Amino acid sequence: MTQTETPRSDSSAPVLQARGMGFGYAPGQAVFDEVSLQIAPREIVCLLGGSGCGKSSLLRVLGGLESLDGGAWSRGTLQFLGQPLNGPHPRAALVFQQPSLLPWLDARRNVGFGLDFARQPDLSAGLRAQRVEQALQAVGLGGSGALYPSQLSGGMAQRVALARALAREPQLLLADEPFSALDAITRAEMQELMVDLVHRWNTAALLVTHDIDEAILVGDRILLMGGRPGRIVREWRVDIARPREDQAAAVTALRLDILSALHGVRHAAQA
Ligand SMILES: Nc1ncnc2c1ncn2[C@@H]1O[C@H](COP(=O)(O)OP(=O)(O)O)[C@@H](O)[C@H]1O
Ligand SMILES: [Mg+2]
Repeated sequence: MTQTETPRSDSSAPVLQARGMGFGYAPGQAVFDEVSLQIAPREIVCLLGGSGCGKSSLLRVLGGLESLDGGAWSRGTLQFLGQPLNGPHPRAALVFQQPSLLPWLDARRNVGFGLDFARQPDLSAGLRAQRVEQALQAVGLGGSGALYPSQLSGGMAQRVALARALAREPQLLLADEPFSALDAITRAEMQELMVDLVHRWNTAALLVTHDIDEAILVGDRILLMGGRPGRIVREWRVDIARPREDQAAAVTALRLDILSALHGVRHAAQA
């Protein structure tokens, strides 16, 4: 069976499951280790941690982007949709801090780019065009498909990158600090859009961030990563009603709890 034919028999089974995972770019130099996590369908998990603790490396491994052929080291197991993951999967879409749009293609063709690549399921041209338009509309760019990257603001370009991910109808969206380069107001809009998209498109998401407030506003669950090698040191289920901007007391209490846990991680690292 090819990866594109992977069935989803149990709708409550985890989308992604990692057990005892470790990874390093060279043997004996673990960047992260003993990472076990799972992501349920339609769940938004935020992976929070300071710079250099291995968040991006973990996301790349979870997205199947890190190959072990180049001398990298790993251990543990990783399953996506109930199958061992051994490379990028068409149902897992990635979004990075930089939108990485192709400057010679308009927004519409950037979103469609790659939809007919070998790893994607066979799609007719009509269905492909339909998916692209739906994805552009979902991110609020229904009328902007003909614009080129040079004509887009940073926020619009990142919306195109989100649309490109959505057009793959992912069951998991893996996003690595996707809003870090945006101004505060655009970032707040994008955080809201992200939650809305995950709910409406029936996908799950792993959002890497170093922003505590972003994790609290967006996540159903927060995993705190820290230490060298990086490990998941704490976890919170965020039971705060949305929109969370309206729940200042609960947000503040959780922020303080996370800050004190971060403090503990730093002290443990220095000891
Ligand atoms: N391609 C790579 N080759 C070798 N080392 C890397 C590579 N990418 C990241 N690292 C190292 O892995 C560690 C974790 O980096 P990274 O995963 O980017 O952390 P974070 O995203 O939390 O800032 C750092 O020490 C970094 O220098
Ligand atoms: Mg990073």
